[in-house]
Amino acid sequence: MSDSLRLVDGASDEEERAAELALRPKSLDEFIGQERVRDQLGLVLDAAKGRGRPADHILLSGGPGLGKTTLAMIVAAEMEAPLRISSGPAITHAGDLAAVLSSLAEGEVLFLDEVHRMARPAEEMLYMAMEDFRVDVVVGKGPGATAIPLDLPHFTLIGATTRAGLLPAPLRDRFGFTAHMDLYEPAELERVLARSARLLGIDLRKDGGREVALRSRGTPRIANRLLRRVRDFAEVRAKGVVTGPVAAAALEIYEVDALGLDRLDRAVLTALVKLFGGGPVGLSTLAVAVGEEAETVEVVAEPFLVRAGLLARTPRGRIATPAAWAHLGLAPPGADRVTGAMTLPLDED
Ligand SMILES: Nc1ncnc2c1ncn2[C@@H]1O[C@H](COP(=O)(O)OP(=O)(O)OP(=O)(O)O)[C@@H](O)[C@H]1O
Ligand SMILES: [Mg+2]
Repeated sequence: MSDSLRLVDGASDEEERAAELALRPKSLDEFIGQERVRDQLGLVLDAAKGRGRPADHILLSGGPGLGKTTLAMIVAAEMEAPLRISSGPAITHAGDLAAVLSSLAEGEVLFLDEVHRMARPAEEMLYMAMEDFRVDVVVGKGPGATAIPLDLPHFTLIGATTRAGLLPAPLRDRFGFTAHMDLYEPAELERVLARSARLLGIDLRKDGGREVALRSRGTPRIANRLLRRVRDFAEVRAKGVVTGPVAAAALEIYEVDALGLDRLDRAVLTALVKLFGGGPVGLSTLAVAVGEEAETVEVVAEPFLVRAGLLARTPRGRIATPAAWAHLGLAPPGADRVTGAMTLPLDED
């Protein structure tokens, strides 16, 4: 991920996590949008509660800031179970995982963020733990090493990943339920914003909420972040009232454009259009051109650019759509001729 936190980046930093804590929905009922995921998850949890057993393992897949951590906390709350939080990158040895697993209580929920970034030996240990609630702890090295089997309490694993495609099939298959989280619709983000404004005591008007929602790249975290910036502006310049024009003026200052694109998004589109004639161009080439990691471009910028109809992924590479050229105020290649023909009658006037 990029080092600097961008205003419309889905990722969060420490300070933001604190701000988010206050806004995190605490129950499935409070969780806005993602109807399908909510319905399915509600069933999984109700069934488990009915049987008086821990819920099946759950995989949450979706881009940054869409509510994976929030859902994991909700699952633990709904199951009235304790929650343990760790992440793939924190588990560098099988021993790290064994330590976590062996200290779980019966029914505990273990949340593993970025589960696709776990060390290989740990991953294999996790297969057995998930399926048989058992691990083999290897003691010693070389020919003298022995595996000591260790029974585990029944727990619920919640794995989160921004890149389900990177999960090895054996791991993916061991989750009883996979929730795919999509970008949110503007109407859903309006509800997220109305709720946050109420909790934060912000005077957010209907048209103000709509304006912020449209610029939030389909992501609740970004919506909440833009709301805080818009509040700053409204307090200083508009007596604290966030209307549509106030929100638009505020976000103009922060270089968030009418579609919610920020500098990285525009850099990607501009490179695609100006350096590569609109593509097709490979992801890594495009990433180098904008000075970012390929993963950042792929996970942070692209999903929304695709959703907004500005960029297309083809087997031969990324291409800019005519809408991308238009958004940058440029004519797509071949358009000159068409424009010329269309302006001809006007010239005669
Ligand atoms: N469905 C929702 N309804 C209301 N608020 C939401 C919803 N989803 C997310 N949020 C808000 O967005 C913030 C970010 O969500 P969360 O931390 O769960 O995202 P994430 O998917 O875990 O992101 P990351 O991939 O960066 O870990 C939360 O603090 C919460 O306030
Ligand atoms: Mg998270």
